[in-house]
Amino acid sequence: MRQILYISSKTPGQDISVGNILIQSRRNNDAVGVTGLLYTDGTRFLQVLEGEGAAVTATFERIRADPRHHAVVVLSDKAVAERSFGRWAMAHRLPTDPADEFDARVTRMLADASDSVRGTFLGLIAVRR
Ligand SMILES: Cc1cc2nc3c(=O)[nH]c(=O)nc-3n(C[C@H](O)[C@H](O)[C@H](O)COP(=O)(O)O)c2cc1C
Repeated sequence: MRQILYISSKTPGQDISVGNILIQSRRNNDAVGVTGLLYTDGTRFLQVLEGEGAAVTATFERIRADPRHHAVVVLSDKAVAERSFGRWAMAHRLPTDPADEFDARVTRMLADASDSVRGTFLGLIAVRR
């Protein structure tokens, strides 16, 4: 099983529909057994992807080439014995979301993640509050 964690930023001038990314991702990821979590506030993206090696590679190559975001930096890419996420999910922070409730929701979504994955998500969310 392969697990990739990356961070990226919205391409300046791109009008991104987070809803479209959600629909595309859910359909594709469910079909190939890719699970994980995508955090976004509409400007930054932080995503962990996990699953069979070939499926994760193909998914990530598609994502990396997507012009809607840029400055894709891989923070971690490793073999894992088992999944940390039961499905693929998105945590979309809206400016109107109370920060504490959002933190609590993402913390629940990260319940089975490794300390390093959890720390990376909660660290980014803390600086984006
Ligand atoms: C930040 C970001 C995250 C994405 N995450 C996924 C993903 O997890 N799975 C996926 O299939 N596509 C994801 N996409 C979309 C892909 O880049 C690509 O547009 C899509 O997979 C094309 O699928 P389609 O040909 O079925 O429409 C993401 C795009 C962006 C900008």
